[in-house]
Amino acid sequence: MVLKSVLFFYLIINSTCAYDFFRDAINLIDQSSDPCDDFYRHACPVGDYDFLVLMKYAPIFKELETSQEESAWENLKIEEALNNIKPGEIENEISAYFERVFLDMCQNNDPAMTTFLLRTQQMLSHEMSTKCRAENCLLRLGGDSNCTRAANDFKSRVAKKTDSSHYQEYVLKLRENIAGWKNKTRAVNILLDGNFKVGVDNINSFLMNMVDVLLQWIQVYKYIAKNPFELILQETPWVNDQKINRALEAVARDLFVIDEYGIQLRENIDALMKTEQDFLKCSADFSGKHDLFCSIYSYHFMFNGRTTTVLHFGYDATNRHPYIYFGMPFIARAANSEMAANLGLAGYVVGHELSHSLIENPSKSYLLPYSSAEAINCIQTQYNNTCAEFKEV
Ligand SMILES: *[C@@H]1O[C@H](CO)[C@@H](O)[C@H](O)[C@H]1NC(C)=O
Ligand SMILES: *[C@@H]1O[C@H](CO)[C@@H](O)[C@H](O)[C@H]1NC(C)=O
Ligand SMILES: *[C@@H]1O[C@H](CO)[C@@H](O)[C@H](O)[C@H]1NC(C)=O
Ligand SMILES: [Zn+2]
Repeated sequence: MVLKSVLFFYLIINSTCAYDFFRDAINLIDQSSDPCDDFYRHACPVGDYDFLVLMKYAPIFKELETSQEESAWENLKIEEALNNIKPGEIENEISAYFERVFLDMCQNNDPAMTTFLLRTQQMLSHEMSTKCRAENCLLRLGGDSNCTRAANDFKSRVAKKTDSSHYQEYVLKLRENIAGWKNKTRAVNILLDGNFKVGVDNINSFLMNMVDVLLQWIQVYKYIAKNPFELILQETPWVNDQKINRALEAVARDLFVIDEYGIQLRENIDALMKTEQDFLKCSADFSGKHDLFCSIYSYHFMFNGRTTTVLHFGYDATNRHPYIYFGMPFIARAANSEMAANLGLAGYVVGHELSHSLIENPSKSYLLPYSSAEAINCIQTQYNNTCAEFKEV
């Protein structure tokens, strides 16, 4: 078993390192067409294939994901419960479903009834203790010897608080959140298990090198004038003319590739496990007989903010000045030692993200607010004229 997994990792890491981007691309060349006719289509024929990097890494990510199958967050009881719900066996409207459970418990003198009322009360008041206010105080209903009357009252109070929601709405939202938290947890684990962390460091080095080059391009005029390499001063004369060298320099120096993966991992596992634990505690109260109820219960206490994302699976990168972050395909690619393909792919995208900080979307121009109107205008004209690719987001 141990040997098997050692071998498995060896194969994965080995196949990652051996990845020859150019060989992959060369394999796609359309040998039956003449490069003189249309070189581009000869080298990149239309075909049924995705980005090469995605095609290369998808199965590697998949295998790493499979190797995590035993992990706690991949085996949540609440997910199992959600998958076991049989539509049709349950009233759509939450209050009707709750009422049926209550009436059944009441009529059968089920000792779990008090707990059921308490859990419902906690849910309606978003409060884990026994504290409650007037209409949310449900425990009293347990004292009514007329179960029909108590059930009616119970139902109308639940309906008031749940806006007659259908249980599917809760199930959907739970599934979505759980999938999102798992997705972000997996991403970090794949980064670690696949030894891709060095890719982040490499991307950060690309960025630092590019910032250095940029800073040379925008050096202050009189400083450069004393320099024998006078050519440089002609690179970006408008930056000198507008006196925004310092401002641009400050913006560029701010930038870094964020690597707070520990925080992403912790936050997303916390969110997952909180929901799972609330569910498990509730489920145990009823010996697993009312797991849909308990899923809805845990929904009311689940984390509903945004968890940290600095790593995801997308084929894209994001600039959230002062930091930028990249999708796994780029990071995995940059972990590879093959430098030409790294610069051509991850490096190119780093440059793109760097320029987002310098050439902002005119409607969201925050980073160079104290430049002259003319300088801003110049940058915005660049934005409008040069790159279709800036007309995003
Ligand atoms: C129980 O309550 C219902 C509704 O309030 C009422 O119609 C019914 O007569 C009551 N039953 C008894 C046995 O009092
Ligand atoms: C993570 O989520 C994204 C979209 O949100 C999806 O495209 C991707 O396949 C998911 N990846 C995994 C490993 O679950
Ligand atoms: C750039 O384009 C936007 C909308 O397309 C326009 O409102 C703005 O005035 C343009 N800016 C310049 C400097 O041309
Ligand atoms: Zn962009």
